[in-house]
Amino acid sequence: MKIISKELTDIFQNLVDNLFSDKELKPVEITVATNENFGDYQCNFAMINSKIIGDNPRKIAEEIKAKFPYGEIVEKLEVAGPGFINIFLTDKYISDSIKKIGEAYDFSFLNRKGKVIIDFSSPNIAKRMHIGHLRSTIIGDSIKRILQFLGFHTLADNHIGDWGTQFGKLIVAYKNWLDKKAYEKDPIGELEKIYVKFSDEAKINPALEDEAREELKKLQLGDENNQKLWKEFIDISLKEYNKVYDRLNVNFDYYFGESFYNDMMPSVLEELKQKGIAKEDQGALVVFFENNRLPPAIVQKKDGSFLYTTSDLATMKFRKDDLKVDEAVYLTDDRQQNHFKQVFEIGRMLGEPYNYKKTHIVFGIMRFGNGIIFSSRSGNTIRLVDLLDEAKAQVKKVIDEKNPDIPEDEKDKIAEIVGSGAIKYFDLSQNRTSDITFTWDKVLSFEGNTGPYLQYTYVRIMSIFRKLKEENIEVKNNDVILDDMNGIERELAVELLRFPQAVVKAYENYRPNIIADYLFDTAKLFNNFYNSSSILKEEDKKVMDARILLARKTAFVLKEGLSLLGINTVNRM
Ligand code: ARG
Repeated sequence: MKIISKELTDIFQNLVDNLFSDKELKPVEITVATNENFGDYQCNFAMINSKIIGDNPRKIAEEIKAKFPYGEIVEKLEVAGPGFINIFLTDKYISDSIKKIGEAYDFSFLNRKGKVIIDFSSPNIAKRMHIGHLRSTIIGDSIKRILQFLGFHTLADNHIGDWGTQFGKLIVAYKNWLDKKAYEKDPIGELEKIYVKFSDEAKINPALEDEAREELKKLQLGDENNQKLWKEFIDISLKEYNKVYDRLNVNFDYYFGESFYNDMMPSVLEELKQKGIAKEDQGALVVFFENNRLPPAIVQKKDGSFLYTTSDLATMKFRKDDLKVDEAVYLTDDRQQNHFKQVFEIGRMLGEPYNYKKTHIVFGIMRFGNGIIFSSRSGNTIRLVDLLDEAKAQVKKVIDEKNPDIPEDEKDKIAEIVGSGAIKYFDLSQNRTSDITFTWDKVLSFEGNTGPYLQYTYVRIMSIFRKLKEENIEVKNNDVILDDMNGIERELAVELLRFPQAVVKAYENYRPNIIADYLFDTAKLFNNFYNSSSILKEEDKKVMDARILLARKTAFVLKEGLSLLGINTVNRM
């Protein structure tokens, strides 16, 4: 099914290409009308092209209006303000399109050639995943789902931090303070504990830092015992991470951590030297940037060891040479902006095979408001599992009150979906680049732009269908008359048709919150419709059928939209 904004764009583009064939025009853009008085869609073509065409925008708009090929899709145009064109769709087109919801959308106008790798989550080993990784995980997963929905070939890569100075420290800590019993019972907890212990002890006794460096060196040189411990730490951590990924319903195609690139780094370094990009500076190898636009990047330390930058360069090369990607997208918080600017710039300097399209998607920090428990044991970080457990428990309480008759195991499943969905939705509905403050009120409220509100709207629709079944009311599918909708119905219908456009916009800006905003608007319109129109009690069967169809399509769009945010729906709660 063709998406409306695209269909309208094509008609307008065709027309203006003919009308102004001798001009180098800026392309037609169709946007959703900002207000129902302005029609269903709007076009600002006349305004952005008036200089080029050399005429007054209102006159251009009037000309377009006069020559427009009205027909199946567009009912009328109106020229407004300084030269906007307001577009009104025909009811017939709206109703035909509504019936088609559920068919695959045609996104072939997007350039979808090649593979996109999405580098997200990427926690550092031997620590429990903390809240900073929550955002990378949730936003990265949503971007992956959006790309897949649009027909891109995606690869999801968890670039685990499994190499680096923390391992020297951990090995020293392991040898000195490990509580064997505790380690057997709760391995990741014990690793965290001794890691914190190391930091505390090293403050008093700096010689420990030297010991840690020694152990790290041994590990890097392949010392058997240290290698064995290192692998053990990785195993333990991955097991822990996978529990969280399972609960969040997040999957990866690869877990190529930093250590995977160890053997590839020397040749990258060689290349940097050969091409004169890295220079020696006080014993280290450093890349300086033109006009010092970026701070210098160290690619090899004095002691010969490699750095985060070097490993990311090797990663870039591997992804092109071996995984054959055409594009890479990275998700981390905004503190890594400079790192990625440096790495991308060095990639550009190196040329093939490093210089393909790369995007660093940043997000702000998540802070915690009142009532959030910190885990003191792991150094004042918030553990993801604790958050998920708490959300689940709170949702469970609501279900116990509202719907005590649901069997316990189903309640449990619902609470898990709605609870983790609430956390995800809270994150994804925010402007990605802002810092956000997490409070249970905001996450779990059943009102406003929240996960539970959307879930509840969906559940409401499901209950209509349950009642229809209980009362044996026959429901028609597509042979329903939808053309004489009232204002509220029409508004909801037009909104439903805007879904694919919201997805495209979310993709173009890498902002899942555009989908969240869309879903919230849709849910509000549905609830407005639900509160003002009778459905099950409607006497006119034709009107009833039309309303049922709208409800069904709303449920479809909500479910599909939420799935792009990585959120499942439930049928009751
Ligand atoms: N492990 C890093 C961290 O926790 C994030 C890695 C991001 N990906 C990358 N290719 N550098 O901060």
